[in-house]
Amino acid sequence: MNYTKNEVLLDVKDVSLSYDKPILRDINLTIRNIVRPGLDQGQVVSLIGRSGVGKTQLFKILAGLIQPDTGTIMIGVEQQAVEAGQVGIVPQNYLLFNHRSIHDNLRLAMKHVTLESKEKDALIQDYAVKFDLTEHLKKYPQQLSGGQRQRVSIIQQVLTGNRFILLDEPFSGLDALMIDKVMDLLGRVATLHEWNTLVIVSHDVENSLAISDTAFILAREKDKEGATITETLDLIEMGLAWTPGIRENRQFQQVVSQIKHKI
Ligand SMILES: Nc1ncnc2c1ncn2[C@@H]1O[C@H](COP(=O)(O)OP(=O)(O)OP(=O)(O)O)[C@@H](O)[C@H]1O
Ligand SMILES: [Mg+2]
Repeated sequence: MNYTKNEVLLDVKDVSLSYDKPILRDINLTIRNIVRPGLDQGQVVSLIGRSGVGKTQLFKILAGLIQPDTGTIMIGVEQQAVEAGQVGIVPQNYLLFNHRSIHDNLRLAMKHVTLESKEKDALIQDYAVKFDLTEHLKKYPQQLSGGQRQRVSIIQQVLTGNRFILLDEPFSGLDALMIDKVMDLLGRVATLHEWNTLVIVSHDVENSLAISDTAFILAREKDKEGATITETLDLIEMGLAWTPGIRENRQFQQVVSQIKHKI
């Protein structure tokens, strides 16, 4: 596979968090800009761990929503300390306004985008066509299925213009068909711009690995309190990234089952 990993886009150093007991400790990870000739190849990274391990807390720290007890999170090519609002977030429960139509929800997401009203509407139309949402634009969130709402929520973040999008459990509660649609959407968002970077926080080993170029395993080590990154999988080097239908691949399935035993 012809690619290089260039400048750092996200650098997490020595992050720890405790409440009444340690939740996260010594979290260190780096995401670099992947460059593939002739392609706008973004980054898709997953943080995988079992329920209760501290994924949502780490998600909030990466989004600048809570401060860790120690450590730093630097984002972007300029490597600035992360602040709330700089990163697009798709939380575990969606952020759509129920009293507004899908179109108006998407318009709201663009309130800080400097475009004329007409241009914003044209952009929404564009994305709606690209991502099969045209027939839903006039509907209200409660008239959509969970998977459709999830996709609107992702597109909403793309429309804000954020290059970083953090997603907390994007596959949970969806059936296989909707999971495929969400995965397809994520794959396409990741190739809209070379700096686009998706960070998926999930306990779903199979689907997270299938969409990612890199996976970090978040787990507790024996006799130690608080979760840390116990393993990093470079799925590009393993020959398991950027391949449609990878879930059918035997080697991929073996990796999935090994990771399931480790978390
Ligand atoms: N505000 C808080 N005060 C004290 N403990 C908290 C607080 N928020 C979360 N925790 C604890 O932190 C731990 C990690 O919670 P977190 O929500 O990050 O788990 P998770 O990995 O996202 O789980 P799930 O997969 O079920 O979403 C849990 O034990 C939880 O009880
Ligand atoms: Mg969670």
